[in-house]
Amino acid sequence: MTRSPLMVSLAICLLCLLLTARAQTPTIPRIALQGGSKARKAFSMTQTRNPNWKWRQIPVTALYAAPFLKHHLRMPEPLKEAVDELQMEVINRTSLVHERANGQTAVGTNGLYTFPVHIGKPAQTFNIMFDTGSGDFWVWSWLMPQTLTNGRNVYNATKSSESDRLTGQSFNVNYAQGSAYGVVWQDTVTVNGEYSIQGNPVECAQNVGGTNLPGLTGVDGIMGLNTWINDSEYPSPQQTWLSFIVDQYLPAPVFTVALVRNGVGTMDFGTIDAKKYTGSLVYTPVVPLPGWAESGYWLVNWSGFSIGKGSFNSTVHQVFVDSGCNLVLLPTSIARKYYAQIRGSWQQTNGFWMFPCAATTPTFTFGLGTSRITIPSNHMVFQVVDGGNCLGAVQEIEEDSYVLIGVPWLEALFVVHDYGAKRLGFALRPSY
Ligand SMILES: *[C@@H]1O[C@H](CO)[C@@H](O)[C@H](O)[C@H]1NC(C)=O
Ligand SMILES: *[C@@H]1O[C@H](CO)[C@@H](O)[C@H](O)[C@H]1NC(C)=O
Ligand SMILES: *[C@@H]1O[C@H](CO)[C@@H](O)[C@H](O)[C@H]1NC(C)=O
Ligand SMILES: *[C@@H]1O[C@H](CO)[C@@H](O)[C@H](O)[C@H]1NC(C)=O
Ligand SMILES: *[C@@H]1O[C@H](CO)[C@@H](O)[C@H](O)[C@H]1NC(C)=O
Repeated sequence: MTRSPLMVSLAICLLCLLLTARAQTPTIPRIALQGGSKARKAFSMTQTRNPNWKWRQIPVTALYAAPFLKHHLRMPEPLKEAVDELQMEVINRTSLVHERANGQTAVGTNGLYTFPVHIGKPAQTFNIMFDTGSGDFWVWSWLMPQTLTNGRNVYNATKSSESDRLTGQSFNVNYAQGSAYGVVWQDTVTVNGEYSIQGNPVECAQNVGGTNLPGLTGVDGIMGLNTWINDSEYPSPQQTWLSFIVDQYLPAPVFTVALVRNGVGTMDFGTIDAKKYTGSLVYTPVVPLPGWAESGYWLVNWSGFSIGKGSFNSTVHQVFVDSGCNLVLLPTSIARKYYAQIRGSWQQTNGFWMFPCAATTPTFTFGLGTSRITIPSNHMVFQVVDGGNCLGAVQEIEEDSYVLIGVPWLEALFVVHDYGAKRLGFALRPSY
């Protein structure tokens, strides 16, 4: 069985970052973060294979539902029914594997690749997922019941000589099917060994609920990299790690994501490495999410699409770009036009698209203004399953909803997150 390469924070797709708690009356001042050196310097981080990750099978229904939960998107009816069935099975404690709509399973790759982060003095080391779809930095902590921390590195603030409790400060991140809440300490945080930031807020979970977060094997915490300046702590939101390093450390207010199929990807901060892409970068502005302008999502508009050698259809769609999602979601009519060109493709009862791996897959082109980006035909598989069948990377979402570009296509792309100018830049990766 091959495994789709994965990425930065695959996992988070199983999560869903709706940060609820918003600021009320601030009573706790913003912390003055302090860094070690003043020189602005770019750095590159390479993912590591998480030694605590454990192989496990997850129902394809859960895989398909994850991006909907993460971004609070309406599920297509067949998926909704399958999710309901899955939940009933969990309640009944029967086998997940033999249920009609949920028979197919996939390898849960979430948390397989992470980035090392050190907290405290002496340094405690953690395997952290970096998530472009959220804005808080939180960790599994010593304040949690041991049943929830087994198999993880657990942050213990009282072991650090540089930690301090932010008395009265709390956090609560909600992921439609799970949440984490707890208290806040501040401590020295070192990412990639490059420099240490003193007094960085560290959200210490006291509990995580739901099924998704506890199932994220071997992950010790999540670093949010959305467009927020402040996190969602209350009563007083604190500056995020990303906005702090943009202010104080980086020579340019950008970070880039370059994921690699079946290998380790990189994230670079403060620099755009010309060796990691071909052609020229196409920039497009980040647009507000209708109804939730402060969502912090990296959301852009595309100007249309074409399939294979077909003609370009100029229809604007809003597009989530999320390194923490395993799939690509396209509005029903587009997904069906795509699969109409793959011989032998079919949908499971839950609506999930499959096809024989031997079939030829067309390319997919999307427009950014007048520029065009073509995703090569070898980026259309999520995972190979038994019997020579493939779980499609492209899945459908309701017609009037959003497009979501997740890991399988990001592995073909180099994406510049321009935090300063609030825009995304896209280019193709060199062939590999
Ligand atoms: C448990 O399974 C039975 C038989 O499949 C079903 O009738 C019942 O509704 C389920 N119970 C719950 C709580 O989902
Ligand atoms: C946290 O660290 C303190 C100080 O070393 C120790 O006494 C305590 O047992 C630790 N707590 C847990 C849950 O490991
Ligand atoms: C961030 O927090 C600071 C201090 O609490 C506040 O002055 C500032 O307006 C906030 N910025 C945003 C964009 O929320
Ligand atoms: C993005 O698309 C939405 C929906 O089509 C539209 O309302 C909005 O004006 C567009 N924004 C930009 C900057 O093109
Ligand atoms: C263009 O795409 C939209 C969305 O899938 C579809 O509704 C429309 O019919 C397409 N137009 C043409 C000319 O194919």
